[in-house]
Amino acid sequence: MRAKQISLFEVGARDGLQNERAVPLEAKIALINALAEAGVKRIETGSFVSPKWVPQMADSQAVFAGITRHTGVRYSALTPNMQGLAGAIDARADEVAVFASASEAFSQRNINCSIEESIERFIPLIDKAKQLNLPVRGYVSCTLGCPYEGEIAVSEVVRVSEILYKLGVYEISLGDTIGIGTPDKARNMLKAVAEKVPVEQLALHFHDTRGQALANILACLDTGVSTIDTSVAGLGGCPYAKGASGNLASEDLVYMLHGMGIETGIDLLKLAHAGHEISRVLGRPSGSKVALALGKPE
Ligand code: HMG
Ligand code: MG
Repeated sequence: MRAKQISLFEVGARDGLQNERAVPLEAKIALINALAEAGVKRIETGSFVSPKWVPQMADSQAVFAGITRHTGVRYSALTPNMQGLAGAIDARADEVAVFASASEAFSQRNINCSIEESIERFIPLIDKAKQLNLPVRGYVSCTLGCPYEGEIAVSEVVRVSEILYKLGVYEISLGDTIGIGTPDKARNMLKAVAEKVPVEQLALHFHDTRGQALANILACLDTGVSTIDTSVAGLGGCPYAKGASGNLASEDLVYMLHGMGIETGIDLLKLAHAGHEISRVLGRPSGSKVALALGKPE
């Protein structure tokens, strides 16, 4: 049964900006504040990862310190290990997220360790977060394919998701990291995971590299999934990987959901304006078709 209400988990300031050329601190803070003003309730605000690996996120501590916190909004941080958790605690993040992969090769390239080693690292992190009443989200990458291994077995996606779930992660976000999936494949993957993890605790995180993300999400809605990760203005896309692109644009999802009578609590025009502004800083048009159709503010 389709959810009547969908919760957007906005990843533009993290997943998007980690893959764009560096933007000034003030622009990041303005973006996050504008997203909250638009009614977005869950905002991934930064990541506490090695600045050598992802220099674009090196100022996450300052971003958390600079934002105006809105009541009812949860500001989250990506944390790969205990050092990252310490950073998130200092920053007063409302929740943290660990990230694992369904692909061994991607795990090595992304976090320099095997899937099993990454899970070993998450155990003390989740324990400590629990002591502090800090909710922990979990990502599983490469659920519909891997840039290094190609096809990924659905059984592997289910296995890693179930491990994270049993460790106490409150929500598992299923990533089509390279936007390679198509609708039937996406729905089948989600249904398989939902046999082991309640669908209420699953989220979709589809990159739009091949223009399939909206169709893939639509194909999944009948499962009852009610959390979707998106990136305002479709921010993202790796400067080093030709053709790579960001998550589905938040504006495009909101437009579709509202058109279907599904509530998000988000003001589409304000959201689109937030996207236009950060796109201006990046020196290019918004990556959202809906935002382009709505036009820029006068
Ligand atoms: P490593 O080199 O194996 O780590 O990296 P290490 O423990 O051996 O430490 C090496 C150095 O890194 C040390 O510094 C540590 O202090 C430092 P040095 O002594 O050389 O000066 N270090 C840290 N610094 C800051 N914060 C930390 C931290 N940890 C160690 N938390 C590590 C392992 C995980 C740190 C590294 O591989 C890394 O930072 N990777 C980040 C990768 C990343 O951020 N990828 C993008 C996010 S994932 C994603 O986008 C996918 C997702 O969107 C879902 C999807 O689309 O599928 C979530
Ligand atoms: Mg991602």
